[in-house]
Amino acid sequence: MALDLGGRILRSRTVAALASPHGIDRYLTQINPMLAAHEVRARITDIHPEVSAPGAPRVATVTLQPTSTWRGHRAGQHVSVGIDTGEGRRTTRVFTVSNTEGKAGEPLTITVRAHDDEHATPYSISKYLTERATVGTLVHLSQAEGDFVLPDRVPEHIVLISGGSGITPVMSMLRSLQRRTHRGKVTFLHWAPSADRQIFAEELAEIRHQGHGVDLHLLHTGDGAPYLSPALLSKLVPGYRDLPTWACGPASLIEAAQAAYAGTESLKVEYFKPPKTAGVAGGEMEFARTGTTVANDGATILDQAEAAGLTPESGCRMGICFSCTTNKSSGRVRNILTGETSELPDEQIRICVSTPEGDCSVDL
Ligand code: FES
Repeated sequence: MALDLGGRILRSRTVAALASPHGIDRYLTQINPMLAAHEVRARITDIHPEVSAPGAPRVATVTLQPTSTWRGHRAGQHVSVGIDTGEGRRTTRVFTVSNTEGKAGEPLTITVRAHDDEHATPYSISKYLTERATVGTLVHLSQAEGDFVLPDRVPEHIVLISGGSGITPVMSMLRSLQRRTHRGKVTFLHWAPSADRQIFAEELAEIRHQGHGVDLHLLHTGDGAPYLSPALLSKLVPGYRDLPTWACGPASLIEAAQAAYAGTESLKVEYFKPPKTAGVAGGEMEFARTGTTVANDGATILDQAEAAGLTPESGCRMGICFSCTTNKSSGRVRNILTGETSELPDEQIRICVSTPEGDCSVDL
């Protein structure tokens, strides 16, 4: 009660006016980095290796204790993680929360695969979290976001499909269902290159051992397992086209799932990486604020801006964190995730998933 009252006072307009122009969180962080009125920050409390196979990128589960401003998450949601990289710059990337759904202020975990990031400045956040961060390291967080989530009333039989690191949101779903003591059936299909690169291997082995309505298929392609296809789905999950299904993974897996479920409403997907779709080259791409114009080469507006030497704000680069949202003053753009085009003047677009079609002008 006292904490809640203190929080309300700290978030009041009076305090905001007194702290202006920097905001109350700027002062609170000087006293204690885990004090916050609006922002969310978190301290790393554990780093647990998941995969360290020779020749494979490291994968680790990082446990975060957030500030009391964290509002909790639903299984399947993601969070932006920001690291201060010096000189006032913050690098942000999006990771799915991997633990069971949690309440305000409760710890959360993210499961991170270390990979090189060509856009990282000055280093890849996933490598930082898995190789350099230690217990006690502070990070910035967004609130949990995303609608790739389970409904409150979970259907009797559901299907979870994942590939590679795309296992994290569906694992959060599976763990949450187990905590909710879900009585129905879950068919879980996961693709990984090999058994020694299988994330959460021990826990999955235990889940398989216990049964409890979970029909688990670990498909290791390096050991000859088949890829996702309608024939394979029909064999492993008869009647799959009528079963509510959640799929997360690389573009190839998502596209195969979309083809297998074409014409149904059963499938919900989340790209682990956006598709490498080239847009239509032609016309001029104008960055009006900086007075820069380039020939539209069909890449996303974010890629074209960076190629032109601009440094627009960005985070996930896959259309889910909204940090790259920019005003488009004119022109037609295509959303590479949905294929939809829009040509309203003065509309807010996410430039990481928008390709221009012909002449286009944005406020960068
Ligand atoms: S960078 Fe996250 S939506 Fe564009």
